[in-house]
Amino acid sequence: MRKRTLTGIKPTGEMHLGNYLGAIRPALALAEEHDAYYFIADYHALNGIKDANALRDYAKSVAAAWLACGLNPTNTCFYRQSDVPEVHELTTMLMAFSAKGLLNRAHAYKSAVEQNIMDNRDPDYHINMGLYTYPVLMAADILIAQADLVPVGYDQKQHIEMARDIAEAFNHAYGEELLKLPSPYFAQQSQVVVGLDGRKMSKSYGNVIPLFASDSQLKKLVNRIQTNSQSIDEVKDPDQCNVFSLYKSFANAQEIEALAERYRQPGMGWGEAKQALFLRLNEELTPIREQYAYWMAYPEKMEEILMDGASRVRALAQEQILRLKEATGLR
Ligand code: ADP
Ligand code: TRP
Repeated sequence: MRKRTLTGIKPTGEMHLGNYLGAIRPALALAEEHDAYYFIADYHALNGIKDANALRDYAKSVAAAWLACGLNPTNTCFYRQSDVPEVHELTTMLMAFSAKGLLNRAHAYKSAVEQNIMDNRDPDYHINMGLYTYPVLMAADILIAQADLVPVGYDQKQHIEMARDIAEAFNHAYGEELLKLPSPYFAQQSQVVVGLDGRKMSKSYGNVIPLFASDSQLKKLVNRIQTNSQSIDEVKDPDQCNVFSLYKSFANAQEIEALAERYRQPGMGWGEAKQALFLRLNEELTPIREQYAYWMAYPEKMEEILMDGASRVRALAQEQILRLKEATGLR
């Protein structure tokens, strides 16, 4: 049987290069040789976004982004999490196997608590149960489809481990492998894609290069990537440079070596490295940008694709729920 790959992206903001390199590009490469299940994690987004129009717009934009980057809806099941109610039935079942102590240790929850304490607030200030139980819903997303591989950025490592822990607790209770243990798939050579300021590229840090920036915006942003203050005459270390680190994700082996060589010789200024990065980036992103504009102009086509994807994944999800209900005695 072909292995299954599954991943989700939350519609919480503008898509950026971190999402593209960490999740979308590797996921689309995996879809060539796996049965692929890719979805919009809209219930996960609801934890933070309470503006209906914003949520709708972000979801539309995530759908268009996947399609623009090349998702083929005939061989990939592409859907919205909220159109698959079986995910929520499974979430409720998994709650009974999710230790509270496990969820206490989840990074996102823990850092929200720590931030509240630092700000002299009640530790639970602004923390909803959706955030607290986030890893259980994510486990259900994955386990409903018996996924083997989950392409994500490194920041999601703990969530996949938790999905495995919860699945193991479930399997252990019934003495059989009812739920398949998923493995993460990290594509990035460096663990995270770095943003303009050298920290992890993230919407929450405001340091992103948006996937759909125009060429002039892209050029401006590339020029803003932080570098050190070495002069043009000094030799430079490519492995300590944010510009080079992004370049590696867009160029081929020969080009990478050629630019590394320029770094190691005197006479290369940051402007030259940034221009090389801009050209590579723009070459890969221009067709994607055009496709994105196309899909955004045809929301009804996207809707059709998503509804078709939901009905396909639901067929499989219903079988899974039935099996689990029998195994647990719910039926
Ligand atoms: P953000 O941190 O901007 O809120 P999300 O949490 O919505 O991004 O991430 C969606 C997907 O993109 C996840 O698989 C995540 O691991 C991946 N991702 C996000 N930022 C990066 C990054 N800087 N490097 C690698 N992968 C990333
Ligand atoms: N938690 C992921 C993120 O923040 C999104 C997500 C939700 C997901 N469900 C998933 C990723 C299932 C992979 C598999 O980016």
